[in-house]
Amino acid sequence: MRVVILGSAAGGGLPQWNCRCPNCHLARTEPNRVRPRTQSSIAVSADGTDWLLVNASPDIRQQFFDNPVMHPREGLRHSPIRAVLLTNGDVDHVAGLLTLREGQPYTLYGTGSILDSVADNRVFDVMAEGVVVREAITLGMRFEPLPGLAVTLFAVPGKVPLWLEDASMELGAESETTVGAMIEADGRRLAYIPGCARVTEDLKARIAGVDALLFDGTVLHDDDMIRAGVGTKTGWRMGHVPMRGDAGSIAGLKDVAIGSRVFVHINNTNPVLVEGSPEREAVEAEGWTIAHDGLTLSL
Ligand code: MLT
Ligand code: MN
Ligand code: ZN
Repeated sequence: MRVVILGSAAGGGLPQWNCRCPNCHLARTEPNRVRPRTQSSIAVSADGTDWLLVNASPDIRQQFFDNPVMHPREGLRHSPIRAVLLTNGDVDHVAGLLTLREGQPYTLYGTGSILDSVADNRVFDVMAEGVVVREAITLGMRFEPLPGLAVTLFAVPGKVPLWLEDASMELGAESETTVGAMIEADGRRLAYIPGCARVTEDLKARIAGVDALLFDGTVLHDDDMIRAGVGTKTGWRMGHVPMRGDAGSIAGLKDVAIGSRVFVHINNTNPVLVEGSPEREAVEAEGWTIAHDGLTLSL
């Protein structure tokens, strides 16, 4: 299995268009200290030829340009992307669907509720009926978006997308709105979980033994955004478990057998983004990799 991390940042990217936080400033002025990163997306292939895109980032056009394996290969119109899977309906995971139009056929997969939130927005009708097939997937049902590549979706603690929040919103709910994907090829297993509000026993049992885990690295501490002075929201309020703390992902997953541990969906305020920072080195010393755009894994 080949995995390309197309975009390793959370919503907003790095630098974020309107942000002058220290990380965003460094990404503009000293990119060797804070590498710029695009918004959250990966591509996975069993054969290196046909690819499954998991989450369609607003930066998808740039991501495809930057990764030659995503370039059209034959005829006048072509894409190595044959299938697209959504793990939630957040803007950073669906806005790229607007770029994936132009009459290119592929199948769009997601849970019923994620596909409903796409269908409710008529702008997504640019993925024309009869060209793009939309297929709703039941949690726990193993399906093959591409020959040789199998996927099973499972609920993780989360919340509805920011743009669907209302008074009835439940933080940390496990439902079809936020899912992880277990992706298998040739007996190798990748767990991709870019958004997760809490590490639960269920989650640990599900991912035990995977060859690689790509996990929610939005915030280092629950109050990163408050510490950075850019906002009042905690990680919990945004549906993202912090890396650090007794209830954090590093401690929570420490004793779970996992081949490679990689943080993705990293918010631009996260101190681990600074190369060589104490925060970065401490997280790496715990066996975690901080993803950057273009990082590839061969499983
Ligand atoms: C998130 O991951 O919390 C969302 O992408 C936030 C957003 O929609 O901007
Ligand atoms: Mn996000
Ligand atoms: Zn910033």
